[in-house]
Amino acid sequence: MSKTVLTFIADTHYYSKTLGTEGKAYELRSDSDQKCLAETGEIIDAAFSKLSKSDCDAVLIAGDLTNDGERVCHEEFREKLRKLKETKNVYVVTATHDWCCDCNPRRFEGDRVYNDVPTLHHNELYDFYREFGTDNAFAEYRTTLGTASYAVDIGDDVTLIALIDDKNGRGGAGFKKEHLEWIKEQIKGAKQRGRLPVAMEHHLLYPHISPLITKGARCRDGEHILNEMADAGLKFVFVGHSHIQRIDEYTSPAGNKIYEVNIGSLVGYPAPMVTMTVENGDITVNTERLKTFLHNGEEKNLTEYLARHATKIVSVVFDAAESGDRGLFAGRLEALGIKSEPVMKYYFIIAPVLKKISGATVGSAGKLINSITFGKAIPRESVKALESVKVTQVIDRMMLNVLDGAVKKYSPKDDFYKVVRGAVSAPLRISRKLHLGGKATEFLSELDRVADEALSGGTIDNNYLHIKNEV
Ligand SMILES: [Fe+2]
Ligand SMILES: [Fe+2]
Repeated sequence: MSKTVLTFIADTHYYSKTLGTEGKAYELRSDSDQKCLAETGEIIDAAFSKLSKSDCDAVLIAGDLTNDGERVCHEEFREKLRKLKETKNVYVVTATHDWCCDCNPRRFEGDRVYNDVPTLHHNELYDFYREFGTDNAFAEYRTTLGTASYAVDIGDDVTLIALIDDKNGRGGAGFKKEHLEWIKEQIKGAKQRGRLPVAMEHHLLYPHISPLITKGARCRDGEHILNEMADAGLKFVFVGHSHIQRIDEYTSPAGNKIYEVNIGSLVGYPAPMVTMTVENGDITVNTERLKTFLHNGEEKNLTEYLARHATKIVSVVFDAAESGDRGLFAGRLEALGIKSEPVMKYYFIIAPVLKKISGATVGSAGKLINSITFGKAIPRESVKALESVKVTQVIDRMMLNVLDGAVKKYSPKDDFYKVVRGAVSAPLRISRKLHLGGKATEFLSELDRVADEALSGGTIDNNYLHIKNEV
């Protein structure tokens, strides 16, 4: 009889309230982010309190521990880790947001943003977090950043291979050749000792949902790394970074299967905590969502709070267009990281279109799409069934479905599925009708596939997996 239980979380992005929690500049920043800022401490406290009472052998955190590498965030977050460590083993890896790789640390005061925020240099991370990793490791590999990948045995069954994949030495995320060789050695070593090797890193290896959504979140040579890992005998890799909850399987050309579990952000919708149980050779991966937290001393429904916060990044742009305030609209774009100057040249077209979408219902939009596609895109009965639903509500639901791995699954028989897939596939129908071909049609075809994946959640459950006789 043997049992090992690991709980993974990711992208805790701890934000110290000393960096500012109110004023116009803070609100612009907060409203443009799918995850929370000021609330992160309270959400992390709720999660750590729950985990400290759970039956897991270790809590593992897959990088982006802090908001953006600010020293004060690291210091306050480490205190929370130390408290958790009183009851649980804790293992972390750091990632690019832990050494402020964009060199743009910020604090907010009134309507001003200041950059005079001390950050932790990447060379300091090894010592700063050694008590949550390398101190207990039996092997480590130092990266050029001064950080370290490490291997540690947990419980009866598992060897955790915790990896730093910030730099591949060729200008992207990933591993240098020598680092990858070290990883393969750890995988093979664990297997020889009769343990299940489990890897954790920050960036994606597999393009979850579609490269259209996750290409930028992936290690540059992700497929090569997956092949090497799978062929060395690794079956599970847990990643973070995309803030999307997802499980996918991949088979290398040599025929070896590997599962990549993408853990969503703890401080963004849907606040997932992913538990892997290895028991008598069977493996179960189960995602639980943190349901409540104390917000300013008051217990709140976290799922609803985070869903509202996540969808706000779109709704505030619609609201700004509707208000007719050009300055506010430009400010919303800038906060999203979009250069407003070139976009504002087309404000006179963009604003009315956004206003139209904002006021549209499935009934009015469906009729318009069907009139362009000669009634072929969306079945009339489905438009009728959802006619009073606002288009913005559909956009919100789709966004949440992407983030939570389709907790609410839609089948091709559902009216919602028919409406969304029909609307998304309308441009593809037109391009095929006109025999356009080429890159545009390829893009539209991939977009159509993304709609299906987001609606249905893909072929395997993104929140639960059970494999018999694996170890
Ligand atoms: Fe992140
Ligand atoms: Fe990240």
